[in-house]
Amino acid sequence: MKFFIDSADLKELKDLASTGMVDGVTTNPSLIAKSGRDMIEVIGEICAIVDGPVSAEVTATDHATMLAEGRKLAGIARNVAVKVPLTPDGLKTCRVLADEGTQVNVTLCFSPAQAILAAKAGAAFVSPFVGRLDDIGTDGMQLIADIVEIYDAYPAIRTEVLVASVRHPIHVVAAAKLGAHVATLPPNVLRQMYQHPLTDKGLAAFLADWQKTGQSILG
Ligand code: E4P
Repeated sequence: MKFFIDSADLKELKDLASTGMVDGVTTNPSLIAKSGRDMIEVIGEICAIVDGPVSAEVTATDHATMLAEGRKLAGIARNVAVKVPLTPDGLKTCRVLADEGTQVNVTLCFSPAQAILAAKAGAAFVSPFVGRLDDIGTDGMQLIADIVEIYDAYPAIRTEVLVASVRHPIHVVAAAKLGAHVATLPPNVLRQMYQHPLTDKGLAAFLADWQKTGQSILG
């Protein structure tokens, strides 16, 4: 399973990239606004930190302007994945950009029917939002199960399931069990994944016993 980081915070991204766990980055207009940075500049800087796909989202809602925005974003760096919303204009834009060789991430997917359309439009990634579905009392992870099942039934589909709106490590584990290709994690979720009290307790006991030996591996 690939891990993308869902953030436009350069400090966080640099720190997490050094863990060797980061395969890409996703941003959205809200995360860019939170960064307080110029979008074109910040996407360029993120692309220099992480080799894998960096999603940059268009903000227009009509096809012609989305396409112009998408082409501009794709020109920032070779690893930009243009993000478009799952609307008729967004999918029309996806088709054109995909045919031009640009990776497209179709975002704001909330149903299996929408995910079928994203695949038909040539999306490199479809982003189903599990947390936001959970928030309204729906089982977000069921959507991942449905999309994975549908895509698996058609080996010609190349679209990767990118689990978005992840809120905690349980989402990541559930998505991995379903065989989702990618999860985009808020920085705190990746950090939480390392944690287990028995790891801390076990390490403390090993180190205490080691100290009693008076030895040092490096001499
Ligand atoms: C990523 O591509 C999405 O924009 C993001 O995961 C949405 O997460 P949120 O529902 O926590 O805002």
